[in-house]
Amino acid sequence: GKVRAPTHIISTISDDRGEEPCYAGVPMSTIIEQGFGVGDVISLLWFKRSLPRYCTQFIEMCIMLCADHGPCVSGAHNSIVTARAGKDLVSSLVSGLLTIGPRFGGAIDDAARYFKDAYDRGLTPYEFVEGMKKKGIRVPGIGHRIKSRDNRDKRVQLLQKYAHTHFPSVKYMEYAVQVETYTLSKANNLVLNVDGAIGSLFLDLLSGSGMFSKQEIDEIVEIGYLNGLFVLARSIGLIGHTFDQKRLKQPLYRHPWEDVLYTK
Ligand code: ACO
Ligand code: LMR
Repeated sequence: GKVRAPTHIISTISDDRGEEPCYAGVPMSTIIEQGFGVGDVISLLWFKRSLPRYCTQFIEMCIMLCADHGPCVSGAHNSIVTARAGKDLVSSLVSGLLTIGPRFGGAIDDAARYFKDAYDRGLTPYEFVEGMKKKGIRVPGIGHRIKSRDNRDKRVQLLQKYAHTHFPSVKYMEYAVQVETYTLSKANNLVLNVDGAIGSLFLDLLSGSGMFSKQEIDEIVEIGYLNGLFVLARSIGLIGHTFDQKRLKQPLYRHPWEDVLYTK
């Protein structure tokens, strides 16, 4: 047989050696000629397979709905301050991206992990939420600074509506809603947030589409692919905020003394 020199890198998602680059074996010309969208490209490069249209449309909805949430949130604030310090696009973008984590935008993977574990073990919402409280862990995907029982997050409602219409099963999302009903009985702002909605609905997408084995789903959840959706989406808004500050020729930002409690 062939004797191969050992390679230093293994790569399985794309290949640029032929006449045209391929994403997961699909040539660029097919991607363009068959009218693939960004959801298809994400499917190929992240999940290494073509997914049905209802799945790629859901992925695109997540990207569009999470692209921005105004200038006051952690990520946009950081990008704005960085742009106003005269830094370049990439610096302003990454300074915003670095705020994405367990409290802001980066709770999707943990929401999927905890909701999946609780649902698969048959825990009631009471057992799940109180169990988390005992461990001193806030339920990922629950709670919001400005959204509440009477001021629901439209993004969550739109994703839920889409899934109800197009997904074969929404069992994880329904479980997350039961958890929300329980947490709302404790405090008005403990709503299912957009991270929790995406986390639970992606579990439904993975398990209901018939495109992934149980092992593959466990691996996706364990590795943590889903925060990638927020990172990718919010980059669009953070880039927008950076351009906005530069267009407006905003000066160096300095936080006002009056807004700081100086104390010993
Ligand atoms: N699970 C259980 N209890 C909670 C949760 C939660 N997820 N969130 C708040 N509480 C309760 C706690 O008792 C908290 O008291 P503590 O500070 O002693 O733990 C109390 O509510 C007060 O919380 P608030 O001050 O109202 O919450 P805050 O506005 O500071 O936090 C936040 C909002 C950060 C989103 C919070 O709810 C949280 O950590 N949620 C989990 C992480 C998450 O899902 N983040 C994504 C948000 S959506 C997005 O960023 C796109
Ligand atoms: C966001 O998408 O940035 C938000 O849900 C967070 C916020 O506080 O508005």
